[in-house]
Amino acid sequence: LPTKVYGKRRFLKYQATWWPEVFLPGVLAIQRRFQPRSSDVLLASYPKSGTTWMKALAFAIMSRKVYPLEEHPLLRLNPHDCVVHLPGAYAAGKESVVEALPSPRIMALHMPYSTLPDSVVVNSDCKIIYVCRDPKDVLVSLWHYYNKVRPDEAHLSQFHDLYESFCQGDTIFGPWWDNVLGYFRASLDMPTRVLFLRYEDMLEDTASAVMAIAHFVGCPFSGEEERAKVVEAIVKLCSFDELKNLNTNKSGSHGLLRKHASSSYFRKGVAGDWMDHMTEEMAHRIDTIVQGKFQGSGLNIKSAA
Ligand code: A3P
Repeated sequence: LPTKVYGKRRFLKYQATWWPEVFLPGVLAIQRRFQPRSSDVLLASYPKSGTTWMKALAFAIMSRKVYPLEEHPLLRLNPHDCVVHLPGAYAAGKESVVEALPSPRIMALHMPYSTLPDSVVVNSDCKIIYVCRDPKDVLVSLWHYYNKVRPDEAHLSQFHDLYESFCQGDTIFGPWWDNVLGYFRASLDMPTRVLFLRYEDMLEDTASAVMAIAHFVGCPFSGEEERAKVVEAIVKLCSFDELKNLNTNKSGSHGLLRKHASSSYFRKGVAGDWMDHMTEEMAHRIDTIVQGKFQGSGLNIKSAA
């Protein structure tokens, strides 16, 4: 397979996607063996698009009848320890753990839609929620993340190198535009199965996103009171400040290969941080590339002005 080395990591190109080498066995195992249940909810995203937030929201929404919000596991646990990363679990040989999860299961992945097996796409009516973020903020967030979790790889501090890779479509789980477009198109074709949300809209009106997710997964809020009270409580529980502070004194979350500090998941949590990292020309170049890729699809980037 075509190979790229970034820092100390190897990425392999398989099915038109760049995969971190460590995850590829998990992806192959999912393609061969994963059997979804119709009650499953898959949280899909390109990395650094708000996955952690979506994990917290979906988990809080779907478990609200099981755990009172004032004693919720999210008060003690990192969202990544509440919602499993499916390829990571499969790569770590924990298929049986996934199989043993009670229904309804919530699982996350970064796999492009085109790489999902037929068991998910064709033969199941499980639900998929995709969160999309302005690619310029994704790129900035990814760069900070790499530097945080791999501080030993000094050359990663060159933002421009990652920027170039992104523009070439050579970053993990990418090209970014293919990852987004696959789910966007699926959400148009199968609106009851694929919900396409945007990080920027979620920031602007989190309560509406919470209600949309609840409705989509089949556990809508009933009554005005529940709406006002519980929706607000979930918005607060999963807010950036709340999650960041709750996690401040904890040791973080287990990644596939190492433990990640909580601070690597909660950095700024805003739209438009790219303005502090890119020149106008750099931003314009990404926008132009992406607009070209999105042409005719009906999809546009939503960017902080
Ligand atoms: P920044 O690095 O721009 O701050 P992912 O979870 O997909 O890895 O994405 C990480 C990004 O989401 C980070 O962006 C992080 O700060 C932001 N984030 C995490 N939790 C959030 C929350 N509750 N609300 C808004 N943004 C959040």
